[in-house]
Amino acid sequence: MSIAALFSTDQQLPDHYLHMDEIEMKKRITDIKQQMGDRLFIPGHHYQKDEVIQFADARGDSLQLAQVSANQHAQYIVFCGVHFMAETADILTGKQQKVILPDMRAGCSMADMADDQQTMEAWEQLTSYFGDTLLPLTYVNSTAAIKAFVGKHGGATVTSSNAKKMVKWALAQKQRLLFLPDQHLGRNTAVELGISLKQMAVWDPIAKKLEYDGNRENIRIVLWKGHCSVHENFTTENIEQVRQHHRNMKIIVHPECTYEVVQQADLAGSTKYIIETIQNAPAGSEWAIGTEMNLVNRIIKQHPDKHIISLNPFMCPCLTMNRIDLPHLLWTLEELQRDHVPNQIIVDENIAENAKLALDRMLAQS
Ligand code: 13P
Ligand code: SF4
Repeated sequence: MSIAALFSTDQQLPDHYLHMDEIEMKKRITDIKQQMGDRLFIPGHHYQKDEVIQFADARGDSLQLAQVSANQHAQYIVFCGVHFMAETADILTGKQQKVILPDMRAGCSMADMADDQQTMEAWEQLTSYFGDTLLPLTYVNSTAAIKAFVGKHGGATVTSSNAKKMVKWALAQKQRLLFLPDQHLGRNTAVELGISLKQMAVWDPIAKKLEYDGNRENIRIVLWKGHCSVHENFTTENIEQVRQHHRNMKIIVHPECTYEVVQQADLAGSTKYIIETIQNAPAGSEWAIGTEMNLVNRIIKQHPDKHIISLNPFMCPCLTMNRIDLPHLLWTLEELQRDHVPNQIIVDENIAENAKLALDRMLAQS
């Protein structure tokens, strides 16, 4: 959990919500939303469960949710997503607005793979090798403290839908990049821009060392050794199986998948890109999707005219995204109605100021 989380009030769901009837919960949420009107705004990420996403006022990928949060005036923003997304919303909204995460256990294992101490150590080591030729970029799937580090050193955040543009932007300023914390998105994006694997090194934050064979002068991208534990479960064996059993099936994956999987897939892009590609595909087309299961199942339901499967038949949903459920959403809203704010996300002001620099640089390019 990030430093910023220490400033938030972590509260648990009272037991009786767990035994409540589903229809009753849905009715209560609908009524509260109506009563609170413009004072309440619920953004929902595409990976949220159906029972939750149906109540979202805006649903989107990480970039869209950052953009809607930045333009939001509601007093309460109840974020249906994970911790780093709620932090971003807090950074981009005004002081009088309150951002709430219905369950504080909704973290992200990838974001937890880079902490500020590790990042400072890496920076010290890498700048001793490369001097002032390095710019940091961080995937939004990172803590506010990492965004602040990046903002302070002239860098920016990126999402899966603007990574190519942001890496290009960064390389126009400095010779080299440190890309945190997802090595796969960093590698896949750099390859798309024509940078060869030989020009990429990996920084291991546990061993505190640079993994690279050859002359360091040739390095253009230093990839942080982090990954998404959900997307790493898509493999080239899954791709072989699909190619063998479904000759006409197209494979579309999220760029958090490994380089090998992205190379062998037909298409790769953010959750928004995946949704739109399937929407625009002709009836009767066949698709294997490599991303989180709540979203894949929703796409399957929404397109009965197409044959759609998960690239990995044994995939599970993202467990931390799944922490946000109907009982937590209802409890949060009922607390707000009683003028009590549970699980507010408050990013420390100094961290927020520098993190906003990194986010604003991205939003200006998007
Ligand atoms: P996007 O929705 O931006 O593609 O991100 C996916 C993700 O992993 C969010 O945690
Ligand atoms: Fe984090 Fe992966 Fe879950 Fe996204 S899908 S929230 S990157 S663990």
